[in-house]
Amino acid sequence: MHMGKAPTVSGNGAEMPAVGYGTMLYPEPDRAVELIVRALKVGYRHIDTARKYGSEHWVGEAIRESGVPRDDLWVSTKVTEQNAKADDFARSVDTSLKTLGLDYVDQLLIHWPQPTVPLEETLGALAKAKSEGLTRHVGVSNFTVALLDEAVAKCSEPIITNQIEYHAYIRQDKLLAACARHGVIATCHVPLARGELLNDPVINEIAAAHDKTAAQVALRFLVQQPKVAVVPRALEFSEIDEDIDLFDFELDDEEMARIGSLRDRNLRVVNPPGRSPEWDIG
Ligand SMILES: NC(=O)c1ccc[n+]([C@@H]2O[C@H](COP(=O)([O-])OP(=O)(O)OC[C@H]3O[C@@H](n4cnc5c(N)ncnc54)[C@H](OP(=O)(O)O)[C@@H]3O)[C@@H](O)[C@H]2O)c1
Repeated sequence: MHMGKAPTVSGNGAEMPAVGYGTMLYPEPDRAVELIVRALKVGYRHIDTARKYGSEHWVGEAIRESGVPRDDLWVSTKVTEQNAKADDFARSVDTSLKTLGLDYVDQLLIHWPQPTVPLEETLGALAKAKSEGLTRHVGVSNFTVALLDEAVAKCSEPIITNQIEYHAYIRQDKLLAACARHGVIATCHVPLARGELLNDPVINEIAAAHDKTAAQVALRFLVQQPKVAVVPRALEFSEIDEDIDLFDFELDDEEMARIGSLRDRNLRVVNPPGRSPEWDIG
């Protein structure tokens, strides 16, 4: 069993663990706490939750059960686009903290952009949560280049991450360049393209050469890039263990380029109608 912690990746003064455990969708809710506890026991220090996922109470219970000191953890939660107005936003943060059983989170994100509410208003509520000590850091999720530029310009607190869909099957060159320009960490949600990458022949060939699994190679491809973090989700102990065991091997330039060329497939797996902004192409 791997017992090491993931290294950190830095963004605008914050040090975020490069691998987090994602907690969206538990088909067997009764197992949620034991799976999150497992992640904490094998060294995950970053747990990714959201009001929308309904997993905050399991995350809180697992943290208490694991015995991992609060100061060692990086807990991330998000406010949905339905709560983009300042008062609703503040209420959502309050509910998240009560549900988690925590005094503060390490990172609070705007989950999706909300075009019907001025971004300044939501950013003001986000910054206020930080100034009130309810979160250590702030960030955004599913923001395009234009929205990220606007958020960085208008937020009174540093934006440390944009949590975005990024994996080997999607081209995100423009958005990654914007994150780099702003010193923002690109945190990859759906880093395994919801499992689509696991049967890829190139990934599997490279995995065999390193005596690693396809999931590990697909995740390694991401965390080997500058200012990139990942939040995979797995429902098997063995997969949880594998997904953080990424730091005892390295992909060479040719392997990185081969996997990089898979992005021409341009598969977007998170694209909810009515919620998605007009995505950057390229
Ligand atoms: N900000 C946002 O809008 C947003 C959107 C989507 C997701 N997220 C975050 O990203 C996290 C991950 O997303 P996701 O779960 O949708 O997609 P994902 O991590 O790309 O893929 C999960 C799939 O990969 C499988 N898997 C994971 N590790 C594996 C391994 N080592 N070997 C074989 N299969 C493996 C899982 O199997 P099993 O689960 O069946 O074991 C599951 O089917 C979410 O939990 C959430 O925290 C954020």
